Amino acid sequence: MVFLHPYVKRMKLFIETFGCQMNFSDSEVVASVMNDQGYELCGSAAEADLVFINTCSIRENAEQRVRKRLRELKGLKKKHPGLRIGILGCMAERLREQLFDEEPLVDLIAGPDSYRKLPEMLQELDEGRRTAQVLLSEEETYADLEPVRYGSNKISAYISIMRGCQNFCSYCVVPYTRGRERSRDPESIVKEAERLVAEGYREVTLLGQNVNSYQWQQGDSVILFPELLTRVAAVSDQLRVRFATSHPKDLSDELIDVIAATPNICNHIHLPVQSGSDAVLKRMNRRYTRAWYLGRIAAIREKIPDAGLSTDLIAGFCGETEEDHRLTLDLMEQCRFDFAFMFAYSQRPGTRAAEKLEDDVPDMVKKGRLHEIITLQQRLSHTGNRKDVGKTFEVLVEGTSRKSPDQMFGRNGQNKVIVFPSGKHKPGDYVEVKVVKCTSATLIGEALE
Ligand code: SAH
Ligand code: SF4
Ligand code: F3S
Repeated sequence: MVFLHPYVKRMKLFIETFGCQMNFSDSEVVASVMNDQGYELCGSAAEADLVFINTCSIRENAEQRVRKRLRELKGLKKKHPGLRIGILGCMAERLREQLFDEEPLVDLIAGPDSYRKLPEMLQELDEGRRTAQVLLSEEETYADLEPVRYGSNKISAYISIMRGCQNFCSYCVVPYTRGRERSRDPESIVKEAERLVAEGYREVTLLGQNVNSYQWQQGDSVILFPELLTRVAAVSDQLRVRFATSHPKDLSDELIDVIAATPNICNHIHLPVQSGSDAVLKRMNRRYTRAWYLGRIAAIREKIPDAGLSTDLIAGFCGETEEDHRLTLDLMEQCRFDFAFMFAYSQRPGTRAAEKLEDDVPDMVKKGRLHEIITLQQRLSHTGNRKDVGKTFEVLVEGTSRKSPDQMFGRNGQNKVIVFPSGKHKPGDYVEVKVVKCTSATLIGEALE
């Protein structure tokens, strides 16, 4: 902690985050490091002395968005020459010093495991040196840093439980930008959950690239994900517990049993499948087959009949034939996903697919297949939502609907958004809501109490 002289003006920091939820969580850690240095967060780049852009490299267009943002900041830096700009996150890690050459307005480059070094790097900048810190760590989990939850609704928070990934799916940059898998001390995770409950939070999502390979050695015993989940759920029965993301190859029966048996662990599993074709899954190095995936879904449906299911899908991966694509559509129909994140394959430099496989599905074909996948998913979501009409769910209220202020919104355990007329309810309340109608994206209900 740094105690500032009352006459010292606090410097203003604006953090802009792209990419996945893990990046948003990391930005909260960065806010904590910078807060200790006397920086306060502000609401726009125009007011800031320092702008951090926390970047994503997952697809080419993710990087293009960051480049575009940097072009927009050029004008601001001209007007305000003292403004400093730092690039953090996966793109910083992937491109390193090259970014200094390509983007002259960048003052500092820090990869995902270097955020403790930010104060030092700013000091060096004061002395006239631009620095890049991109060393990946095998231990860093930022377990002892208390995130500043600046974007939060004060109801729902994310807790990072592990970092990195070493699955090396052939299309994916994450193992290169985030380094080896490492888990965080369970005590610090449980403490963070307790602190959040004491502050009035009602929902936590345990985060990692592959949460079900969570592993913590404690003396002679090893704590695995189902046990961690149980410990966090035991913090309070008023706390809902979610988690993301699970890899199908590691989704154990034990985990399904724990979800089924624990009322405050939400009945929602996000299980990215990527493709429904064994030939494609093999080239992707996903290390499961279509039959294995369908078997996991069957096990979930048997033990948790009302489970919400969602997935990620990639259209047009290297060598994907029309028949492979049909198999993906067929798998989607069989699994009846409630929701999906759907992408066209984007080749990423340095990955195994970029080095060993030909990106041979023409753009138009990729887009056409993606469109078919999206259209099918909309139909599946709508059908799934229609089945919920007439049912009653426990909804955790998150806030007032932006579209109509006389409506509240929240989610059920399955992670579906439900909108209902506001009565005496406030954010953080659990309310029984009966669904009366729906769209393909939203359930519309009435509060029963
Ligand atoms: N760790 C998670 C997800 C990580 S990235 C998992 O393994 O499922 C989120 C999603 O982005 C992936 O599930 C995948 O569908 C998509 N994705 C990753 N790399 C991609 C690429 N090169 N092109 C298109 N989509 C990609
Ligand atoms: Fe990427 Fe695969 Fe790791 Fe997910 S599991 S982050 S898709 S390498
Ligand atoms: Fe993007 Fe890095 Fe997340 S590449 S998806 S920000 S781990």
